[in-house]
Amino acid sequence: MSASALTTASTTVPKQLVDRFGRTVRDLRLSVTDRCNLRCTYCMPAQGLQWLPGPQLLTVDEIARLARLAVEQLGVERVRLTGGEPLLRRDLEDIVAAVAALRTRHTGDKPDIGLTTNGLGLDRRAAGLRTAGLDRVNISIDTLDQREYATLTRRDRLADVLRGVDGAQAAGLFPIKVNAVAVPGELTERAPRLLAQCLRRGWQLRFIEHMPLGPHGSWRAEEVVGAQQVLTVLREAGFALTPVGRPDRRPAALWEVAAGSESDGQYYPAGRVGIIASVTAPFCDDCDRTRLTADGKLLSCLFGTAEVDLRGPMRAGASDEELARIWARAAWDKPRAHGTDDPQTISGGFTAPTRTMSAIGG
Ligand code: 5AD
Ligand code: SF4
Repeated sequence: MSASALTTASTTVPKQLVDRFGRTVRDLRLSVTDRCNLRCTYCMPAQGLQWLPGPQLLTVDEIARLARLAVEQLGVERVRLTGGEPLLRRDLEDIVAAVAALRTRHTGDKPDIGLTTNGLGLDRRAAGLRTAGLDRVNISIDTLDQREYATLTRRDRLADVLRGVDGAQAAGLFPIKVNAVAVPGELTERAPRLLAQCLRRGWQLRFIEHMPLGPHGSWRAEEVVGAQQVLTVLREAGFALTPVGRPDRRPAALWEVAAGSESDGQYYPAGRVGIIASVTAPFCDDCDRTRLTADGKLLSCLFGTAEVDLRGPMRAGASDEELARIWARAAWDKPRAHGTDDPQTISGGFTAPTRTMSAIGG
Protein backbone atom coordinates (compact mmCIF):
# COMPACT_ATOMS: atom_id res chain seq x y z
CA MET A 1 0.00 0.00 0.00
CA SER A 2 1.39 3.41 -0.88
CA ALA A 3 1.75 6.03 1.81
CA SER A 4 -1.10 8.05 0.34
CA ALA A 5 -3.37 5.02 0.17
CA LEU A 6 -2.59 4.34 3.80
CA THR A 7 -3.52 7.83 4.83
CA THR A 8 -6.76 7.59 2.89
CA ALA A 9 -7.51 4.21 4.43
CA SER A 10 -7.10 5.56 7.91
CA THR A 11 -9.28 8.63 7.43
CA THR A 12 -12.16 7.48 5.24
CA VAL A 13 -14.65 4.74 5.91
CA PRO A 14 -14.09 1.84 3.51
CA LYS A 15 -17.00 0.92 1.23
CA GLN A 16 -15.65 -2.37 -0.04
CA LEU A 17 -13.08 -5.03 0.70
CA VAL A 18 -10.42 -5.03 -2.00
CA ASP A 19 -6.90 -6.36 -2.10
CA ARG A 20 -3.72 -5.24 -3.78
CA PHE A 21 -4.28 -7.74 -6.61
CA GLY A 22 -7.60 -6.21 -7.63
CA ARG A 23 -9.96 -8.75 -6.14
CA THR A 24 -13.14 -7.66 -4.36
CA VAL A 25 -14.74 -9.60 -1.52
CA ARG A 26 -18.39 -10.52 -2.06
CA ASP A 27 -18.61 -13.76 -0.11
CA LEU A 28 -18.38 -14.05 3.67
CA ARG A 29 -17.80 -17.44 5.28
CA LEU A 30 -18.92 -17.24 8.85
CA SER A 31 -17.82 -20.03 11.14
CA VAL A 32 -20.21 -20.11 14.09
CA THR A 33 -18.55 -22.87 16.14
CA ASP A 34 -15.38 -24.96 16.01
CA ARG A 35 -17.10 -27.98 17.62
CA CYS A 36 -18.28 -31.01 15.74
CA ASN A 37 -20.17 -34.21 16.53
CA LEU A 38 -18.26 -36.23 13.91
CA ARG A 39 -14.54 -36.94 13.73
CA CYS A 40 -13.84 -37.22 10.00
CA THR A 41 -10.37 -38.67 9.71
CA TYR A 42 -9.22 -36.05 7.20
CA CYS A 43 -10.39 -33.27 9.47
CA MET A 44 -9.90 -34.13 13.13
CA PRO A 45 -8.01 -36.49 15.39
CA ALA A 46 -10.12 -39.21 17.07
CA GLN A 47 -10.18 -37.44 20.41
CA GLY A 48 -11.42 -34.19 18.85
CA LEU A 49 -9.70 -30.87 19.34
CA GLN A 50 -9.35 -28.40 22.15
CA TRP A 51 -12.62 -26.50 21.68
CA LEU A 52 -12.80 -22.78 22.10
CA PRO A 53 -14.22 -21.82 25.51
CA GLY A 54 -17.80 -20.51 25.21
CA PRO A 55 -17.07 -16.89 26.14
CA GLN A 56 -14.63 -16.66 23.23
CA LEU A 57 -17.34 -17.43 20.68
CA LEU A 58 -19.07 -14.51 19.06
CA THR A 59 -22.62 -14.05 20.33
CA VAL A 60 -25.59 -13.75 17.99
CA ASP A 61 -25.55 -9.98 18.47
CA GLU A 62 -21.84 -9.78 17.70
CA ILE A 63 -22.23 -11.93 14.59
CA ALA A 64 -25.21 -9.82 13.53
CA ARG A 65 -23.20 -6.64 13.92
CA LEU A 66 -20.23 -7.89 11.92
CA ALA A 67 -22.49 -9.37 9.25
CA ARG A 68 -24.30 -6.05 8.95
CA LEU A 69 -21.01 -4.28 8.53
CA ALA A 70 -19.95 -6.76 5.85
CA VAL A 71 -23.22 -6.75 3.92
CA GLU A 72 -24.60 -3.25 4.31
CA GLN A 73 -21.34 -1.37 4.30
CA LEU A 74 -18.56 -3.47 2.80
CA GLY A 75 -20.29 -4.99 -0.22
CA VAL A 76 -20.70 -8.64 0.77
CA GLU A 77 -23.54 -10.36 -1.15
CA ARG A 78 -23.37 -13.97 0.00
CA VAL A 79 -23.01 -15.36 3.50
CA ARG A 80 -22.21 -18.99 4.19
CA LEU A 81 -22.51 -20.35 7.71
CA THR A 82 -19.96 -23.01 8.54
CA GLY A 83 -18.39 -24.72 11.53
CA GLY A 84 -17.17 -27.11 12.91
CA GLU A 85 -20.77 -28.19 12.73
CA PRO A 86 -22.97 -25.08 12.70
CA LEU A 87 -26.10 -26.98 13.81
CA LEU A 88 -24.42 -27.45 17.19
CA ARG A 89 -25.33 -23.83 17.86
CA ARG A 90 -28.81 -23.77 19.26
CA ASP A 91 -29.15 -20.15 18.21
CA LEU A 92 -28.33 -20.81 14.55
CA GLU A 93 -31.89 -19.86 13.56
CA ASP A 94 -31.37 -16.46 15.23
CA ILE A 95 -28.10 -16.00 13.35
CA VAL A 96 -29.80 -16.83 10.04
CA ALA A 97 -32.68 -14.46 10.82
CA ALA A 98 -30.24 -11.66 11.67
CA VAL A 99 -28.37 -12.13 8.38
CA ALA A 100 -31.63 -12.40 6.44
CA ALA A 101 -32.71 -9.03 7.83
CA LEU A 102 -29.77 -7.36 6.06
CA ARG A 103 -29.92 -5.75 2.63
CA THR A 104 -27.02 -5.93 0.18
CA ARG A 105 -25.76 -2.72 -1.36
CA HIS A 106 -25.75 -4.40 -4.75
CA THR A 107 -29.37 -5.53 -5.08
CA GLY A 108 -31.11 -4.15 -2.02
CA ASP A 109 -32.25 -7.71 -1.29
CA LYS A 110 -31.27 -9.99 1.54
CA PRO A 111 -27.92 -11.70 1.04
CA ASP A 112 -27.85 -15.23 -0.28
CA ILE A 113 -27.51 -17.46 2.79
CA GLY A 114 -25.99 -20.94 2.64
CA LEU A 115 -25.14 -23.51 5.28
CA THR A 116 -22.39 -26.12 5.19
CA THR A 117 -23.34 -28.94 7.53
CA ASN A 118 -22.81 -32.62 8.17
CA GLY A 119 -26.61 -32.97 8.29
CA LEU A 120 -26.92 -34.35 11.83
CA GLY A 121 -30.08 -32.90 13.34
CA LEU A 122 -31.02 -31.11 10.16
CA ASP A 123 -34.35 -32.98 10.08
CA ARG A 124 -35.42 -31.12 13.20
CA ARG A 125 -34.01 -27.75 12.16
CA ALA A 126 -34.48 -27.43 8.39
CA ALA A 127 -37.98 -25.96 8.38
CA GLY A 128 -37.10 -23.40 11.06
CA LEU A 129 -33.90 -22.43 9.28
CA ARG A 130 -35.76 -22.06 6.02
CA THR A 131 -38.34 -19.82 7.69
CA ALA A 132 -35.52 -17.77 9.20
CA GLY A 133 -34.17 -17.12 5.69
CA LEU A 134 -31.76 -19.91 4.81
CA ASP A 135 -31.52 -20.39 1.02
CA ARG A 136 -29.43 -23.54 0.55
CA VAL A 137 -27.43 -26.29 2.19
CA ASN A 138 -24.28 -28.19 1.38
CA ILE A 139 -24.17 -31.49 3.20
CA SER A 140 -20.92 -33.39 3.70
CA ILE A 141 -21.41 -37.06 2.81
CA ASP A 142 -18.30 -38.91 1.73
CA THR A 143 -19.98 -42.25 1.24
CA LEU A 144 -23.49 -43.73 1.39
CA ASP A 145 -22.21 -47.05 2.71
CA GLN A 146 -22.95 -47.28 6.41
CA ARG A 147 -19.73 -49.07 7.35
CA GLU A 148 -17.52 -46.81 5.26
CA TYR A 149 -19.28 -43.78 6.72
CA ALA A 150 -18.73 -45.01 10.27
CA THR A 151 -15.04 -45.63 9.56
CA LEU A 152 -14.47 -42.32 7.87
CA THR A 153 -16.34 -40.15 10.37
CA ARG A 154 -15.60 -42.42 13.37
CA ARG A 155 -19.33 -42.27 14.19
CA ASP A 156 -22.08 -44.63 12.99
CA ARG A 157 -24.51 -41.86 12.05
CA LEU A 158 -25.30 -42.24 8.35
CA ALA A 159 -29.00 -42.99 8.99
CA ASP A 160 -29.31 -39.74 10.98
CA VAL A 161 -27.62 -37.80 8.23
CA LEU A 162 -30.02 -39.22 5.64
CA ARG A 163 -32.95 -38.15 7.81
CA GLY A 164 -31.36 -34.70 7.83
CA VAL A 165 -31.21 -34.61 4.04
CA ASP A 166 -34.89 -35.67 3.86
CA GLY A 167 -35.70 -32.82 6.23
CA ALA A 168 -33.82 -30.33 4.07
CA GLN A 169 -35.69 -31.50 0.99
CA ALA A 170 -39.04 -31.39 2.78
CA ALA A 171 -38.26 -27.81 3.82
CA GLY A 172 -37.56 -26.86 0.20
CA LEU A 173 -33.85 -26.25 0.59
CA PHE A 174 -33.00 -26.98 -3.05
CA PRO A 175 -30.76 -27.91 -4.70
CA ILE A 176 -29.19 -30.36 -2.25
CA LYS A 177 -25.45 -30.22 -2.76
CA VAL A 178 -23.29 -32.98 -1.36
CA ASN A 179 -19.60 -32.48 -0.56
CA ALA A 180 -17.23 -35.43 -0.67
CA VAL A 181 -13.52 -35.13 -0.03
CA ALA A 182 -11.41 -37.00 -2.57
CA VAL A 183 -9.43 -38.79 0.12
CA PRO A 184 -6.51 -40.87 -1.09
CA GLY A 185 -7.27 -44.56 -1.53
CA GLU A 186 -10.60 -46.27 -2.34
CA LEU A 187 -11.44 -43.64 -4.93
CA THR A 188 -11.78 -45.97 -7.89
CA GLU A 189 -14.56 -47.88 -6.27
CA ARG A 190 -16.13 -45.21 -4.15
CA ALA A 191 -16.35 -42.17 -6.45
CA PRO A 192 -18.43 -43.77 -9.26
CA ARG A 193 -20.72 -45.46 -6.76
CA LEU A 194 -21.32 -42.23 -4.86
CA LEU A 195 -21.97 -40.30 -8.07
CA ALA A 196 -24.59 -42.78 -9.31
CA GLN A 197 -26.27 -42.76 -5.89
CA CYS A 198 -26.37 -38.97 -5.72
CA LEU A 199 -27.74 -38.68 -9.28
CA ARG A 200 -30.51 -41.13 -8.43
CA ARG A 201 -31.46 -39.00 -5.45
CA GLY A 202 -31.28 -35.73 -7.38
CA TRP A 203 -28.38 -34.41 -5.33
CA GLN A 204 -25.54 -32.45 -6.86
CA LEU A 205 -22.27 -34.09 -5.84
CA ARG A 206 -19.04 -32.13 -5.62
CA PHE A 207 -15.70 -33.71 -4.97
CA ILE A 208 -13.22 -31.59 -3.04
CA GLU A 209 -9.50 -32.20 -3.40
CA HIS A 210 -7.90 -33.11 -0.12
CA MET A 211 -6.30 -30.03 1.40
CA PRO A 212 -3.58 -29.82 4.03
CA LEU A 213 -6.00 -28.65 6.69
CA GLY A 214 -6.57 -31.76 8.75
CA PRO A 215 -4.67 -33.30 11.67
CA HIS A 216 -0.96 -32.63 11.58
CA GLY A 217 0.87 -35.02 9.27
CA SER A 218 -2.34 -36.34 7.66
CA TRP A 219 -1.71 -34.79 4.25
CA ARG A 220 0.92 -35.61 1.66
CA ALA A 221 1.19 -33.66 -1.56
CA GLU A 222 2.06 -36.75 -3.59
CA GLU A 223 -1.09 -38.52 -2.36
CA VAL A 224 -3.56 -35.83 -3.40
CA VAL A 225 -6.23 -37.21 -5.70
CA GLY A 226 -6.44 -34.45 -8.27
CA ALA A 227 -9.42 -33.41 -10.36
CA GLN A 228 -7.94 -35.11 -13.43
CA GLN A 229 -7.71 -38.39 -11.58
CA VAL A 230 -11.28 -38.14 -10.33
CA LEU A 231 -12.44 -37.46 -13.90
CA THR A 232 -10.47 -40.39 -15.27
CA VAL A 233 -11.93 -42.73 -12.66
CA LEU A 234 -15.48 -41.56 -13.40
CA ARG A 235 -15.03 -41.86 -17.17
CA GLU A 236 -13.49 -45.30 -16.87
CA ALA A 237 -16.51 -46.35 -14.82
CA GLY A 238 -18.72 -45.36 -17.78
CA PHE A 239 -19.90 -41.85 -16.97
CA ALA A 240 -20.25 -39.59 -20.02
CA LEU A 241 -19.08 -36.18 -18.81
CA THR A 242 -19.22 -32.87 -20.68
CA PRO A 243 -17.41 -29.92 -19.15
CA VAL A 244 -19.46 -26.87 -18.21
CA GLY A 245 -16.60 -24.85 -16.71
CA ARG A 246 -16.81 -22.81 -13.56
CA PRO A 247 -20.11 -20.89 -13.68
CA ASP A 248 -19.78 -17.41 -12.17
CA ARG A 249 -16.12 -18.28 -11.50
CA ARG A 250 -17.20 -20.19 -8.42
CA PRO A 251 -14.71 -22.72 -7.01
CA ALA A 252 -16.50 -25.80 -8.35
CA ALA A 253 -15.85 -26.77 -11.97
CA LEU A 254 -18.93 -28.59 -13.26
CA TRP A 255 -19.60 -31.41 -15.72
CA GLU A 256 -22.90 -32.50 -17.24
CA VAL A 257 -23.43 -36.19 -16.67
CA ALA A 258 -25.47 -38.09 -19.28
CA ALA A 259 -28.07 -40.52 -17.96
CA GLY A 260 -26.90 -44.09 -17.42
CA SER A 261 -28.35 -46.83 -19.51
CA GLU A 262 -31.12 -49.01 -18.17
CA SER A 263 -29.97 -52.02 -20.18
CA ASP A 264 -26.73 -52.62 -18.31
CA GLY A 265 -28.41 -52.08 -14.94
CA GLN A 266 -26.61 -48.77 -14.52
CA TYR A 267 -29.56 -46.44 -14.53
CA TYR A 268 -29.22 -42.95 -13.16
CA PRO A 269 -30.77 -39.77 -14.48
CA ALA A 270 -28.73 -37.02 -16.13
CA GLY A 271 -27.35 -34.41 -13.78
CA ARG A 272 -24.22 -32.59 -12.86
CA VAL A 273 -21.07 -33.27 -10.91
CA GLY A 274 -18.57 -30.75 -9.61
CA ILE A 275 -14.93 -30.86 -8.62
CA ILE A 276 -13.27 -28.30 -6.41
CA ALA A 277 -9.63 -28.41 -7.41
CA SER A 278 -8.21 -26.26 -4.64
CA VAL A 279 -4.89 -28.06 -4.75
CA THR A 280 -4.15 -28.91 -8.41
CA ALA A 281 -5.90 -25.93 -10.03
CA PRO A 282 -6.37 -23.25 -7.40
CA PHE A 283 -8.83 -20.48 -8.17
CA CYS A 284 -7.06 -17.83 -6.11
CA ASP A 285 -7.31 -15.27 -8.95
CA ASP A 286 -11.10 -15.45 -8.74
CA CYS A 287 -11.32 -15.71 -4.98
CA ASP A 288 -13.94 -13.32 -3.61
CA ARG A 289 -14.08 -14.73 -0.10
CA THR A 290 -13.26 -13.60 3.34
CA ARG A 291 -13.57 -15.67 6.48
CA LEU A 292 -14.52 -14.96 10.04
CA THR A 293 -13.76 -17.60 12.66
CA ALA A 294 -16.14 -18.46 15.49
CA ASP A 295 -13.96 -16.44 17.87
CA GLY A 296 -14.01 -13.37 15.67
CA LYS A 297 -10.72 -13.58 13.78
CA LEU A 298 -10.53 -12.58 10.14
CA LEU A 299 -8.76 -14.86 7.72
CA SER A 300 -8.46 -13.46 4.23
CA CYS A 301 -7.25 -16.81 2.87
CA LEU A 302 -8.07 -20.39 3.87
CA PHE A 303 -4.35 -21.11 3.84
CA GLY A 304 -3.32 -17.82 5.33
CA THR A 305 -1.42 -17.78 8.57
CA ALA A 306 -2.30 -14.18 9.36
CA GLU A 307 -5.32 -13.76 11.58
CA VAL A 308 -6.74 -10.35 12.33
CA ASP A 309 -8.80 -9.98 15.46
CA LEU A 310 -12.17 -8.24 15.27
CA ARG A 311 -13.62 -9.54 18.51
CA GLY A 312 -11.07 -7.84 20.76
CA PRO A 313 -11.59 -4.35 19.33
CA MET A 314 -15.36 -4.93 19.15
CA ARG A 315 -15.55 -5.91 22.82
CA ALA A 316 -13.27 -2.99 23.70
CA GLY A 317 -15.87 -0.64 22.22
CA ALA A 318 -14.63 -0.01 18.66
CA SER A 319 -17.02 1.89 16.40
CA ASP A 320 -18.38 0.43 13.15
CA GLU A 321 -15.99 2.71 11.26
CA GLU A 322 -13.01 1.41 13.20
CA LEU A 323 -14.07 -2.20 12.64
CA ALA A 324 -14.61 -1.51 8.93
CA ARG A 325 -11.10 -0.10 8.68
CA ILE A 326 -9.57 -3.13 10.39
CA TRP A 327 -11.51 -5.39 8.03
CA ALA A 328 -10.48 -3.41 4.93
CA ARG A 329 -6.86 -3.48 6.00
CA ALA A 330 -6.98 -7.27 6.54
CA ALA A 331 -8.63 -7.71 3.14
CA TRP A 332 -5.97 -5.56 1.47
CA ASP A 333 -3.26 -7.83 2.85
CA LYS A 334 -4.78 -11.00 1.35
CA PRO A 335 -2.01 -13.07 -0.24
CA ARG A 336 -2.11 -13.49 -4.02
CA ALA A 337 -2.24 -17.27 -3.87
CA HIS A 338 -1.61 -20.22 -1.62
CA GLY A 339 1.21 -22.60 -2.40
CA THR A 340 -0.30 -26.06 -2.34
CA ASP A 341 0.09 -26.57 -6.10
CA ASP A 342 3.69 -25.45 -6.11
CA PRO A 343 6.02 -28.42 -5.64
CA GLN A 344 8.76 -26.14 -4.50
CA THR A 345 6.68 -24.64 -1.78
CA ILE A 346 5.62 -28.10 -0.68
CA SER A 347 9.09 -29.62 -0.64
CA GLY A 348 10.41 -26.40 0.81
CA GLY A 349 8.00 -26.84 3.71
CA PHE A 350 4.60 -25.49 2.71
CA THR A 351 3.31 -23.98 5.89
CA ALA A 352 -0.12 -25.28 6.70
CA PRO A 353 -2.29 -22.84 8.61
CA THR A 354 -2.19 -23.03 12.37
CA ARG A 355 -5.91 -23.76 12.48
CA THR A 356 -7.39 -26.91 11.02
CA MET A 357 -10.44 -26.94 8.75
CA SER A 358 -12.99 -27.27 11.51
CA ALA A 359 -11.60 -24.21 13.24
CA ILE A 360 -11.52 -22.16 10.03
CA GLY A 361 -14.84 -23.17 8.61
CA GLY A 362 -13.96 -24.53 5.16
N1 5AD B 1 -9.60 -31.18 2.65
C1 5AD B 1 -10.68 -30.96 1.87
N2 5AD B 1 -11.92 -30.77 2.34
C2 5AD B 1 -12.08 -30.84 3.68
N3 5AD B 1 -13.18 -30.73 4.43
C3 5AD B 1 -12.82 -30.87 5.72
N4 5AD B 1 -11.48 -31.09 5.82
C4 5AD B 1 -11.00 -31.09 4.55
C5 5AD B 1 -9.71 -31.25 3.98
N5 5AD B 1 -8.61 -31.49 4.74
C6 5AD B 1 -14.52 -30.48 3.88
C7 5AD B 1 -15.63 -31.13 4.63
C8 5AD B 1 -16.79 -30.21 4.35
C9 5AD B 1 -16.18 -28.91 3.95
C10 5AD B 1 -16.49 -27.79 4.88
O1 5AD B 1 -14.79 -29.11 3.91
O2 5AD B 1 -15.91 -32.41 4.17
O3 5AD B 1 -17.57 -30.70 3.30
FE1 SF4 C 1 -17.02 -32.35 11.52
FE2 SF4 C 1 -16.99 -31.44 9.02
FE3 SF4 C 1 -14.67 -31.94 10.29
FE4 SF4 C 1 -16.27 -33.96 9.56
S1 SF4 C 1 -15.22 -32.51 8.18
S2 SF4 C 1 -15.24 -33.69 11.58
S3 SF4 C 1 -18.27 -33.11 9.80
S4 SF4 C 1 -16.15 -30.38 10.84
